[in-house]
Amino acid sequence: MRSITIRRPDDWHLHLRDGAMLEGVIADTSRHFARAIIMPNLVPPVVTTADATAYRERIMAALPKSDRFEPLMTLYLTEDTSPDDVEAGAKSGLITAVKLYPAGATTNSHGGVRDMEKAMPVLECMAKIGLPLCVHGEVTTPEVDIFDREKVFIDTVLDPLRRRIPELKVTMEHVTTSDGIDYIRSAERNIAGSITTHHLIINRNAILVGGIKPHYYCLPVAKRESHRLALRAAATSGDRRFFLGTDSAPHVDPLKECACGCAGIYTSINTMSCLAHVFEQEGALDKLEAFASLNGPAWYGLAPNEETITLVKRDTPVSFPAKIETGAGPVTVFDPMFPLHWDVA
Ligand code: DOR
Ligand code: ZN
Repeated sequence: MRSITIRRPDDWHLHLRDGAMLEGVIADTSRHFARAIIMPNLVPPVVTTADATAYRERIMAALPKSDRFEPLMTLYLTEDTSPDDVEAGAKSGLITAVKLYPAGATTNSHGGVRDMEKAMPVLECMAKIGLPLCVHGEVTTPEVDIFDREKVFIDTVLDPLRRRIPELKVTMEHVTTSDGIDYIRSAERNIAGSITTHHLIINRNAILVGGIKPHYYCLPVAKRESHRLALRAAATSGDRRFFLGTDSAPHVDPLKECACGCAGIYTSINTMSCLAHVFEQEGALDKLEAFASLNGPAWYGLAPNEETITLVKRDTPVSFPAKIETGAGPVTVFDPMFPLHWDVA
């Protein structure tokens, strides 16, 4: 196949940041994607409906005038989040989901939840009104090995939570292990998982073999090859519980290329080319639309986009910049380590 037309995709997990970085990255998303779930881990985080209203306005102001793009706003769950504020935000249509960061799990998560008990009133309210909880599914307990943090989270936090509040809809974001895939597959309802572009392409060797490669470091960290293969099988299966959430997370190069580099991989600009390559490799180009454009809206109770995009396979590789320049500084673009031939026409 040399060309494929699919409904316009959405990104169900995106970091747009703020200020000069927001201005520098937003067009890479709005060029291809109609909607995205916007992560609330700004400094300070987006914790109230008023914060989300103001952030949405800043996003719309940064959007190129020619692009139509809808940011789907989230709230950052804290131990002090008010159920009434969440309910009002959801009912007004502004808030699409609430995000749980276990405290310390990743970038700007120190204000996240330490004691799940304190979040129960909000979570019960969300179950009542049908508002999904997006989870960063990793424990932060220092004793737990970083490669085991997703599995331990499922066993000790996620599964007990879902047994306690079975009506709560949970998106397990950026699933990185076969344990996560198996857990979602085994559940009867009320759980789905997003999968990033980069976790379909790299395993942990990309970070560590031949020297430390900070631009392949993200959280949850890439796992061993067997896990990557499980993610590819799930993403390309067409199963409605799996959909795209790029977790494109720009950091300027000086904050990645240093002794304690930040977690995050920037993929907005070449995600659709990378995905077409992966789905073609798996003989599943016919499932790309389900993963990128249909399963996500179905899970979030939204209609799929009416517009379409066409991907065309070029004879010569499509070139992407190694870095983009933003007002905040240069941001390195994800290098899949193979030439990309699929191009959004
Ligand atoms: O790699 C990541 N980067 N993972 C996250 O969970 C957060 C993100 C960021 O905000 O930089
Ligand atoms: Zn993220």
